[in-house]
Amino acid sequence: PLVRREDYAPPPFWIRTVELTFDLDPAKTMVINRMTVERNRAVPAGPLRLHGEELNLTRVLADGQSVSFRHEPGFLVIDNLPEGDFTLEIRNTCCPEKNTQLSGLYTSGGGFFTQCEAEGFRRITYFLDRPDVMAVYTVTLRASQAQYPVLLSNGNLVEQGELEGGRHFAKWHDPFPKPSYLFALVAADLVAREQHIRTRSGSEHLLQVWVRRGDLDKTEHAMNSLVASVVWDEARFKLPLDLERFMIVAVGDFNMGAMENKGLNIFNTKYVLATPATATDTDYFGIESVVGHEYFHNWTGNRVTCRDWFQLSLKEGLTVFRDQEFSMDMVESASARAVKRIEDVRGLRQVQFPEDAGPMAHPVRPDSYVEINNFYTATVYEKGGEVVRMMQTLVGRDGFARGMTLYFERHDGQAVTCDDFAQAIADANAESELARTLPGFKRWYAQAGTPRVTARGRYDAPTRTYTLGLEQAPGPTAGPGAEPFVIPITVGLIGRSGRALPVELEDETPSSATSRLLVLDEAKAFFTFVNVDEPPVPSLLRGFSAPVVLSDGLGDDELLVLLNHDSDPFNRWEAGQRLALARILAAVAGDAPDTLDSAFVDAMRRVLRSPELDAAFKELVLTLPSEIYVAEQLERVDPQRIHAVRESMKAQLAGALRADWEWAYDTLQVTGAYRPDPVDAGRRALVNLALSMLCIDAVARGDEAWPGRAYQRVKDASNMTDRQGALGALLGSHAALAKPALERFHALFANEPLVIDKWFSMQASAPERDGEVFGAVKRLLHHPDFSLANPNRARSLIGAFCMGNPAGFHRADGAGYAFWADRVLELDAMNRQLAARMARVMDRWKQLAEPYRGLAEAALRRVAAHPTLSSDTREIVGRALGNE
Ligand code: ARG
Ligand code: ZN
Repeated sequence: PLVRREDYAPPPFWIRTVELTFDLDPAKTMVINRMTVERNRAVPAGPLRLHGEELNLTRVLADGQSVSFRHEPGFLVIDNLPEGDFTLEIRNTCCPEKNTQLSGLYTSGGGFFTQCEAEGFRRITYFLDRPDVMAVYTVTLRASQAQYPVLLSNGNLVEQGELEGGRHFAKWHDPFPKPSYLFALVAADLVAREQHIRTRSGSEHLLQVWVRRGDLDKTEHAMNSLVASVVWDEARFKLPLDLERFMIVAVGDFNMGAMENKGLNIFNTKYVLATPATATDTDYFGIESVVGHEYFHNWTGNRVTCRDWFQLSLKEGLTVFRDQEFSMDMVESASARAVKRIEDVRGLRQVQFPEDAGPMAHPVRPDSYVEINNFYTATVYEKGGEVVRMMQTLVGRDGFARGMTLYFERHDGQAVTCDDFAQAIADANAESELARTLPGFKRWYAQAGTPRVTARGRYDAPTRTYTLGLEQAPGPTAGPGAEPFVIPITVGLIGRSGRALPVELEDETPSSATSRLLVLDEAKAFFTFVNVDEPPVPSLLRGFSAPVVLSDGLGDDELLVLLNHDSDPFNRWEAGQRLALARILAAVAGDAPDTLDSAFVDAMRRVLRSPELDAAFKELVLTLPSEIYVAEQLERVDPQRIHAVRESMKAQLAGALRADWEWAYDTLQVTGAYRPDPVDAGRRALVNLALSMLCIDAVARGDEAWPGRAYQRVKDASNMTDRQGALGALLGSHAALAKPALERFHALFANEPLVIDKWFSMQASAPERDGEVFGAVKRLLHHPDFSLANPNRARSLIGAFCMGNPAGFHRADGAGYAFWADRVLELDAMNRQLAARMARVMDRWKQLAEPYRGLAEAALRRVAAHPTLSSDTREIVGRALGNE
């Protein structure tokens, strides 16, 4: 059934307190649930309809008396209730060990864990499982002391002790009213890294990171990240830690990255565990950002939560923005901040832009869904984060912090909407461009699609003016009657020699600024800059100031000016990418040969050799746009052609810059102890790129020296970033050496599940040659280490192949699509959330050229025709096939 935003109605009852008692047993856990229930007198009286899923009900008492009840699909309905307020006691059982959905209460590695967002609590007990019903929870856990020595739930530990029969108990109380999706419990054999901190305001807190026994030495970075998060939120937004105790627990089976349960965050091990030997720089940065993200939810999500799930971006977009800002504030240099921004935008364009142009396109605040779990999307998260970033751009950094303060003054303890948030930011900045344009600005929440902005400039020498015309059009998925967006566009003007020119508009007092904000809030507008001494090159959308597609008509010469001179590092990188993209697109279209011109090669060499640029930035510039991003620019996609062109250009860059890659490889090696800081990480990234380029070039020349060096590095590297980089270089160039390197790698890390995930995913995403990768992927399905039931492992093989290897996946015989259909159906019977995620691989099938398109459709139809398909996967393939 379709759920509609416009159908929101407040609940007829409130649940004010909950007392839960769990007798934990993998096969049959008993739950006693005592609730104090109040009628919501603002709405007409009606029956109490409690959500419940896969539960066995054993009894229902209202005010201690048994009451009659009935079952409806997904609900327990109680018609005859005491007048006024009452207590309700429900007893039920559930079966954690059979819970392969990993939603609700489940077992993993011999322990109990929960995941309740969005609608998992109803798989634990009957409840008004919706975020606007907030209650104070008291939770008692009982379990075997030997098997589950650690018993955790939200809030503060109030009591613990032994019970007879080798069992023990712990009682937890969370003083903050919360929606059921923030409930959590853990019962397992775990150990904790602990740290006490005293915050600015002088309060003392205990931080814990709980992991399995052997993993304690892998928790230092997660703990450091947590401490940094606490300090940052207090410094930047004056938001303190409000709990005596804050816990993170790592679990190996988890559908998503992590979950912000009040005081008891539960994390995928991938975002907790790291040592230099087992985790890459990317993993270290991922841990910092996810630890930050979940911690920041404590205010943006938990203290103020969502009224209904259509408002998901209220907490997710805002918290993504906050974790991005946190990561940027963690680095010292402006250029390291820019690197983070470039990576975030690259992710947005690679995932969110296609989503927003395809069958799953939806506004940041969706209007309807079948399964809310399908709407934990890049649009709600990352585009939602961009919407918050635009607000900050429009009101300024201090203005935004004031807006946050007003938001919490108004709404602390409430379940609210995206409108409430935007209103608070605008009201705290009454004179701002946001306040002026608020109704129009909020279209970012309501209209789907990536807007296009076209810019054309004209220089007038006699008057020394430059007039910039800006025009916008909504993306094709915005729907009929779409109205203009409010688009903040940060601009600079640059002289041909690289000099920054003033950016003064007519009728303004002169200023020396070289960058400024323009706000495009109509379909079309003109801006005239004065005192411009020479024809400028416009640098538009600096820092990617809005999530739009910009077409500014700049040619190679102008892009080279930006690449060489722009003071905005984002646009500098962007200019390089656009030079590369233009060449790839021309070759793919057959309008130009696959060969790179010397102007482009020289520009890349200048970047690589530049004494002033950071290694991290160089690596980003010298990496060609991804195959997926290239495909997004085309109406008809031939994935094999794109792959061939990109590989050919990569090989040319490898050969033409051989001496420069060698120089980079030799001079940028990091020595000394491993530190996951942006400077060292940038050097490692560039060294690894250089190594892969040198291997490609060497193999083309029949020279074994560089592959030999890479092999040696797989054996000897002192950290995972270098080891994985070397293995990747071999997988991309020298199949014969890659084979023993892979064996070596596996033998070294046989007992490290997160490293074995890398081992699978590297093989699955290696550049395809003659179907070898596909063959390997099919064989790996039967590898003893493979398991479809573990989401990380399933993603590392199937996800990495179907999403991360377009040339392997899109085969002219359709075998890749058949493989996809088989796996989605297998997964769907086990874990429907994960199956629905994997199903999204086919979102863009209609763009494909034949024969791919027809074969893709056949595979989609086969999945759609499956009789017992979950509603989750059905919604995805149904939308893909065009029957909403
Ligand atoms: N709120 C979590 C986070 O963003 C994600 C939970 C995802 N749950 C889901 N059912 N999709 O950190
Ligand atoms: Zn989140």
